[in-house]
Amino acid sequence: MNLILLGPPGAGKGTQAKRLEERYGIAQISTGDMLRAEVRSGSEIGLQAKGIMERGELMPDAIITAMLALRVSKPDCARGFILDGFPRTTPQAEALDIMLREKGLQLDHVIELKVDDSALVERIAGRFTCAKCGEGYHDSFKAPKVKGVCDVCGSTEFNRRADDKAETVAARLEAYHRQTAPLLPYYAAQGKLQGVDGMASMSEVAIQIEAILGVPD
Ligand code: AP5
Repeated sequence: MNLILLGPPGAGKGTQAKRLEERYGIAQISTGDMLRAEVRSGSEIGLQAKGIMERGELMPDAIITAMLALRVSKPDCARGFILDGFPRTTPQAEALDIMLREKGLQLDHVIELKVDDSALVERIAGRFTCAKCGEGYHDSFKAPKVKGVCDVCGSTEFNRRADDKAETVAARLEAYHRQTAPLLPYYAAQGKLQGVDGMASMSEVAIQIEAILGVPD
């Protein structure tokens, strides 16, 4: 099964993609995580991505599409994948259609996480992750059980994203509405778009998505 999670920054795409990865045994592909790994590695792509991400703008379509093409060819995608953060522009969506056709694959679902802009800022401002294992947390919605200690690995070090500052979040939201929201009619025209109420709790959103995807094999 191959699917896309579409939604603005902070809508819960990464949160839900991780759950789906475990539940359905298909790979989460987060282009944001891939770019952050490039930044950490100091690669040429990473150097370019650092400035673009901190300004809340989008990476060039050609670079991101080439990265995606390599990633979907990896063995862990054999059972399917969840695209989290890709496509983000019409040229990316068109390139994905061609890529899938060439690989003899199909897109099964495009799920839109619908969240009000006003809720997104609070979600993003409160977000942090474990520096060791990457588990995601939120100051209000998902705090560690013991303050300052990761539930999963026990680490006491956490990171906040450089692009989660208020001014960058505003630019990211603007980019979403201008460049990514046009993908909603694009996929509606293909008969693939289904929406879920992303304002509900994380577990309720997961239930809505599973109702669309059906019971795992
Ligand atoms: P990326 O990393 O993809 O960021 P994003 O799309 O802005 O999305 P986020 O990761 O911020 O949010 P999310 O929807 O995953 O929410 P999350 O689950 O974390 O991209 C970053 C940058 O990389 C871009 O700005 C761009 O520069 C570049 N880039 C990436 N892909 C690109 C592409 N294809 N083309 C060009 N450039 C690209 O949830 C947020 C918080 O809310 C968490 O703390 C979570 O615990 C909490 N939460 C989640 N669900 C709920 C809920 N239901 N109720 C309450 N809290 C919730």
